[in-house]
Amino acid sequence: ARPLRVGIAGLGTVGAAVIQILARQNAVIAQRGGRPVQVVAVSARDRTKDRGFDLSPFTWFDDPIALARSPEVDCVVELVGGSEGSAREVVETALSHGKHVVTANKALLAKHGSALARTAEEKGVTLAFEASVAGGIPVVKTLREALPGNSVSRLYGILNGTCNYILSRMELEGLTFAECLKDAQRLGYAEADPTFDVEGFDTAHKLAILTSLAFGSQIDSEAIYVEGISSIAPLDLAMAQELGFRIKLLGVAERTNTGIEQRVHPTMVPRTSSIAQVMGVTNAVTIDADAVKELTLIGPGAGGAATASAVVADIADVASGAAGAPFGRPVHSLESAPRAPMQRH
Ligand code: HSE
Repeated sequence: ARPLRVGIAGLGTVGAAVIQILARQNAVIAQRGGRPVQVVAVSARDRTKDRGFDLSPFTWFDDPIALARSPEVDCVVELVGGSEGSAREVVETALSHGKHVVTANKALLAKHGSALARTAEEKGVTLAFEASVAGGIPVVKTLREALPGNSVSRLYGILNGTCNYILSRMELEGLTFAECLKDAQRLGYAEADPTFDVEGFDTAHKLAILTSLAFGSQIDSEAIYVEGISSIAPLDLAMAQELGFRIKLLGVAERTNTGIEQRVHPTMVPRTSSIAQVMGVTNAVTIDADAVKELTLIGPGAGGAATASAVVADIADVASGAAGAPFGRPVHSLESAPRAPMQRH
């Protein structure tokens, strides 16, 4: 069968890992989906950087927008990042040219997810974003596809690997906030602007996506109470420990009497709880639902290969035709956005 021709915009740690994983998994993906996947085009800022593999088999684009409208490409993988500028233009251009899009861009989806899903729907193409939330954890697929027998009442989780890594090392190794952040950046976990991580905005973006999937509502990343970890001091961690708690940055979404409430803030969790055991760059998401009761997914929340695992899963679904509606239902049927007052608990 004709291969799915993939163009990758952005060759950072995730993009490079996608190319490497596709190379070694292609036979399995081809069997699973009935056709192979072929990376045909790439675009990045720096062509000469050593990424550990040869770029010559791919058509090179200096301009990712040109890649997004290239007739040579069936599926555009957007790994540029950022909610505006070229990332947004790459996704809009690809969708409006009738190409499938796979993206890891939580900031873009949090802001423009409903509009982009509508464009995908109109054009009859896929907009897939497993990698946008919680790195390698298949939480988007779980919420979108695995729980039609449930009504979700609440979900919460550790959604930012950088913050969890910082809090873990500050507590266990007594390092300073600044030292830990520097290591998270060196390891490729942090956002280009780490303010997004430490001030809670990245968690809020991911929470907005999960809320939409869990509650069938339109994405609203504005209606979120957000507080980050930048003012947490070693003394706070020691005090929490003294009292039998650990501090975690949690994103929480729940159905209340007045609507769906979304919030992000540092939370004291009992040291014996399962969420308190989640340390380092690991993420965790707990879903409370009526039939399944409580479901927790734990796994790597950031890093090239783990995030690429999720990108490749989406590409494989595009290749096989298994990818459904971005939010699991037509956009017009999504409830209006969550607007509950955001009181602290
Ligand atoms: N900066 C993000 C994190 C990357 O630390 O979780 C994964 O989305």
